[in-house]
Amino acid sequence: MLEQSQTPLLTALKNCANQLDTAFYAPGHKRGQGTSVLLTELLGTQLFKADLPELPELDNLFNPEGVISEAQDLAADAFGAEQTWFLVNGSTSGIIAAILATCGTGDKILVPRNVHQSVISGLILSGAIAIFLQPEYNPTWDLAYSITPEILAQSLQQHPDAKAVLIVYPTYQGICGNIAEIAKITHEYNIPLIVDEAHGAHFNFHPNLPTPALKAGADLSIQSTHKVLGSLTQSSMLHVQGNRINRDRLSQTLQFVQSTSPNYILLASLDVARQQMATQGYNLISQTISLAQIARTKISKIPGLSSFGTPDFKPTSGCVNLDITRLTIKVSDLGISGYETDEILRQQFHVTAELPSLHHLTFIISLGNTETDINQLINALKTLSLQHPPNAIPHPLPNFFPTPDNLAPTPPFSCREAFFAQTETRPLKDCIGRVSAEIICPYPPGIPVLMPGEIVTSNALKFLQQVIALGAKITGCSDPNLQQLKIVKG
Ligand SMILES: Cc1ncc(COP(=O)(O)O)c(C=O)c1O
Repeated sequence: MLEQSQTPLLTALKNCANQLDTAFYAPGHKRGQGTSVLLTELLGTQLFKADLPELPELDNLFNPEGVISEAQDLAADAFGAEQTWFLVNGSTSGIIAAILATCGTGDKILVPRNVHQSVISGLILSGAIAIFLQPEYNPTWDLAYSITPEILAQSLQQHPDAKAVLIVYPTYQGICGNIAEIAKITHEYNIPLIVDEAHGAHFNFHPNLPTPALKAGADLSIQSTHKVLGSLTQSSMLHVQGNRINRDRLSQTLQFVQSTSPNYILLASLDVARQQMATQGYNLISQTISLAQIARTKISKIPGLSSFGTPDFKPTSGCVNLDITRLTIKVSDLGISGYETDEILRQQFHVTAELPSLHHLTFIISLGNTETDINQLINALKTLSLQHPPNAIPHPLPNFFPTPDNLAPTPPFSCREAFFAQTETRPLKDCIGRVSAEIICPYPPGIPVLMPGEIVTSNALKFLQQVIALGAKITGCSDPNLQQLKIVKG
């Protein structure tokens, strides 16, 4: 019987940090003796005593047999997995490793178009061929949802030889697709469902949150423990169940994308975050939910503001559930954009959102937030609404969405081929009809318009210029102002 109150890894690290030892091993600061005062002034000295390498008592991340193995077993038990791996290079590394573990060069993988850029890295490194699926889109809120089961079923019929399906669940805004149905359809082809659950590490600890991916039938889930729980930035977990994932190959691919000198402070923080959730998770999340609900109710009374999913949540095929702790507040009815609002909130009120967008801003409410934080946010929003009374003629912030019409039909190159091809950087007008060597993704709605290997169309460029003029940010490309593009030479 596993004892969830225990913290084997933290305890071992604490013992080692407090033990006298004459260090002739890395790191070079030798338990803090050589650390610059510039750092100790900020961080204190204890942190450096705990910044230790793979001492015999501390086990080995890539061949765990001691305290790391115990800590990972406890995590698997707490998060509902058969096996869990601790990650020190974020969910980014877990996503890349999962793709490398399931797909080789030329293998097909079905992925939504609104994937995180780590998926594109995984495609480039593996040489897998992406079959991109269009997610559902909410034009009123300018939000990309999940892919629908219907789109997946159709695409798998066309590509029955696909080796895996990968979905994002939940999205950045807490939107959850019909994962149970998606898992069922995927398993009809006896292939694994990989879930980028970077934003859902808290789901297993409260019945009023959406179903966790593994419980809904996923084979592999990657969670950014650091995004919503109490572990340190960069620390994540990868969970597996069932036999559709080759676990030996996964252990190997995780070694490709992580340091051979994993940071024990990050690892210990994962152990503690698990213990905290396993022993107090229900209460902590109940408090978080209650704060989120208070915020939602108060926001609904502020003229010109609304939060996604309040007062009525209207499920659709691509959005069957919502993480209510994720707050997306629409500000465009005040005649200002989410980007402008972000600046005002930071400068005037010292309130900082997670993700500003054109029409709205997304705020993460988590176990670290307090009633005072919520009051601060609400007071700032009330003042904002007074300073920018709801506009009879709303600021022109039209919605935009890269529809299939914007895209050329069959990409001539895979992401990998385009990435490794010889490239040149040319002004936009010279790029039409050429093959893009980079990803061009406007936020909002965070759906790439061009992927490496796809043909640059005039529609795509027109669309991108329009969204830049409206204030969208372009990510992924070498020139964020989009004066020029990197294309395949030839
Ligand atoms: C949907 C999604 N997946 C994956 C990641 C990568 O997570 P990490 O920062 O833990 O590497 C992010 C990061 O923002 C994300 O939003």
